Amino acid sequence: MKEKLEQLKISAINEISKINDSKSIEELEIKYFGKKSELSDILKSMSTLSDDEKREIGPIVNSVKLELSSLIETKKNDIANLELTSKLKEEYIDPTIDLKNEKIGHLHPTTQLKYKLEDIFKSMGFVVYDGPQIETDFFNFEALNLPKNHPARDMQDTFYVKSDVVLRTHTSNCQVRALKDFGVPLKIVIPGRVFRNEALDATHEHTLHQIECVVVDKNISIANLISTVDGFVKKIFGDDVKIRLRPGYFPFVEPGFELDISCLVCGGKKCPACKHTGWLELGGTGMIHPNVLKAADIDSNEYSGFAFGFGLDRMTMQKYKIEDIRWFMGGDLRFINQF
Ligand code: FA5
Repeated sequence: MKEKLEQLKISAINEISKINDSKSIEELEIKYFGKKSELSDILKSMSTLSDDEKREIGPIVNSVKLELSSLIETKKNDIANLELTSKLKEEYIDPTIDLKNEKIGHLHPTTQLKYKLEDIFKSMGFVVYDGPQIETDFFNFEALNLPKNHPARDMQDTFYVKSDVVLRTHTSNCQVRALKDFGVPLKIVIPGRVFRNEALDATHEHTLHQIECVVVDKNISIANLISTVDGFVKKIFGDDVKIRLRPGYFPFVEPGFELDISCLVCGGKKCPACKHTGWLELGGTGMIHPNVLKAADIDSNEYSGFAFGFGLDRMTMQKYKIEDIRWFMGGDLRFINQF
């Protein structure tokens, strides 16, 4: 047994000296100290030895065990240090490098317009409000005078997460939320991402952006609506732009309108960009329906308000004369780097 131990020690020392990676040292530790190792067999067989033999072999076994485990431990530390040093060399960061000429990206054109609109509305005394993109059926539809099975729900192709949870189809989901949060008087805008289960084409995306405006106070009228829209449209597109209201149906406003601006390409003279009408649609608007105020526990005899929701992507298309909405999320840097 003595010779066996001596042999084991020599071959282990030899193997340890040749190893230089952490995986191999772990395997070697299992080979010499694992449950099925030679050393473990020797320890088990010691029960068959006489007391004298145990007295003689015991200390030798212990010393071999101690020597090998200390060698393995030292090797492990050496390997860990070596691996750390080489990792630090590979992942070296030079904080003094001058990045002035590196491309670091920039804001998407729709985000640029969104920030610009936020600044304009803030300068007009509005608060910017944010709401959830995953929304309950209640805030997206029911609170907006669109009970379950109402045919007007079909106007907005909806992604359902569960039967009563949707990806919000419009920023109007924040109308009742904000009224419940802040009460009246209220003067807010809600820019944000919304989702529609649309067939895609040059003007329709499944993921789009809107900006919603909600004003509720005493004595609010359509005149306030028109002056607010006219003010911000002129700040974005210039003083020559005209606005136009057409009757439009949205169950959460009464009366409701579609809001158009004069074509930015031809100035209203009629061209292919405005489909020869001279006008471009921005979105929907109207006086907030009493049922919506009721859903937010607001007395519609005392308070009235207006709301509008415009497509931000389509506004960006107008501003930069972009022909296809699908460019926005196409991921083509040749397009996006132009802004
Ligand atoms: C609405 O979403 C209403 N919530 C607007 C509203 C708010 C009316 C407050 C009354 C009061 P509509 O579905 O028409 O309405 O969408 C408004 C605008 O969003 C559209 O005019 C268009 O500019 C933009 N839009 C709608 N669907 C898409 C789409 N799939 N891709 C790109 N833009 C879209």
